[in-house]
Amino acid sequence: MQLILGGKLEKVEPIANHGEESVSTSLTYATWRKQEGWKPLKIVDAEGVNFVDSSGKKYLDLSSQLMCSNLGHKNMNIIRAIKNQAEKIAYIAPGFNTEVREELSSSLKTILPSNLNKYFFATSGTEANEAAVKIIRMYKRKEGKTKIISAYNSYHGSTGSSIQVTGDFRRIEIDDVQHSPGFLHIPQPYCYRCPFGLKYPTCNVACADYVEYVIRNEGHVGGIILEPVTGTNGVIVPPKEYLPRVSEIARDNDVVFVADEVMTGFGRTGDWFAVNHWKVKPDIITTAKGISGAYMPLSLTATDRRISEYFDENYFAHGHTYEAHPMTLAAGVAAIEEYKRLDIMKKVTGMAPHFASRLEEIKERHNSVGDVRHIGLFGAVELVKDREKKTPFNSYEEKVAGKPLMTDLVAKKAMQDGVYISTWVTNLMIAPPLIISQEDLDRGFDALDAALSIADKEVR
Ligand SMILES: Cc1ncc(COP(=O)(O)O)c(C=O)c1O
Repeated sequence: MQLILGGKLEKVEPIANHGEESVSTSLTYATWRKQEGWKPLKIVDAEGVNFVDSSGKKYLDLSSQLMCSNLGHKNMNIIRAIKNQAEKIAYIAPGFNTEVREELSSSLKTILPSNLNKYFFATSGTEANEAAVKIIRMYKRKEGKTKIISAYNSYHGSTGSSIQVTGDFRRIEIDDVQHSPGFLHIPQPYCYRCPFGLKYPTCNVACADYVEYVIRNEGHVGGIILEPVTGTNGVIVPPKEYLPRVSEIARDNDVVFVADEVMTGFGRTGDWFAVNHWKVKPDIITTAKGISGAYMPLSLTATDRRISEYFDENYFAHGHTYEAHPMTLAAGVAAIEEYKRLDIMKKVTGMAPHFASRLEEIKERHNSVGDVRHIGLFGAVELVKDREKKTPFNSYEEKVAGKPLMTDLVAKKAMQDGVYISTWVTNLMIAPPLIISQEDLDRGFDALDAALSIADKEVR
């Protein structure tokens, strides 16, 4: 792939793509891209906030891989718990009870919003959201309220219903082959590019009121699913009124409110769950990623009392072979213990002001940065080629077509300097492991700062 930079042709590959062809590239699928040209770096070791490639080069991870390795690598307490569980009972059918299932359920009860009293464990954020949509539809079927609202520019998973509630181009790309009725999308509280052309706070958060308009005018709406802080689509932190108002609208209209905390849960924003910042109590929380610190594939769909009581009397038509898999649950128990032992919530809130000021500085220093957004240790840098017009360097169509993206070029330069930054179309995701030291964080920001000069040169 080539990009014209300052009149010169430059080769650009996605960040993880500076390795070699191997049996993996010929026999396994690379995801969210065309297969041609996939040459992933081979990773041979990882410890703490760093990982190492097969040439021995070490990288500082400024994105927690896919915003999931919250506790870093080689956490021996989690590894020991998984080993112990493997030696005891690696697998048992989910119809049986286990000690580890009791332990994780009791542990979650201490950290989840108090109204959530029944849990379904699976192995990915996608499955957690599939379960949430199915639960809403089963719960609401007698009222005929089966429509689900979600936001444009959101991501909720890659299959069936989870891709249908997804609002971004990952849904649009397969809408022709996978479209099914009953999924509605709404604009987001994306103040930098307000879909209503308004400005906060004079907008009076019209995007929240619009939710009620859709519920009333569509009819048959049973649920709404939102990321409390939009993740891959650029860490969109809502105005403080947004989630409380949407949650009130949902309650007033008897619509189930789901917070997708797959990315935002487990300390990423400085609290166990992002909804806590706005004192919102959703009817369902879905989460994954940080729940096990990514040591095992574990996800959770937690529902409130009204829903759980409904299923006391009605058939719960859902399940998987690997649901409540003991080894995944053991990783969950140990990870929650580690979040507590390491006082991660306090650590994140303590470091958040420095994190925020480094991001704001980045925005000041680089004219290719249109906006930065952040909460806790969760941040995004949105690149633009024209600050005044807010013109992005690239479109999602270019991403799908495999065209070179400016974010990849910036991330490639950071990677050369030994810092890994995950990208998504026009955004750089800054979400380090929550155990990171300020010194390492600063080293990461210094590399980002240097790498952004590449984009600055291309600004109009
Ligand atoms: C908010 C959100 N929901 C759901 C998912 C899907 O999770 P998974 O990739 O584990 O299926 C993701 C993944 O990035 C996510 O960020």
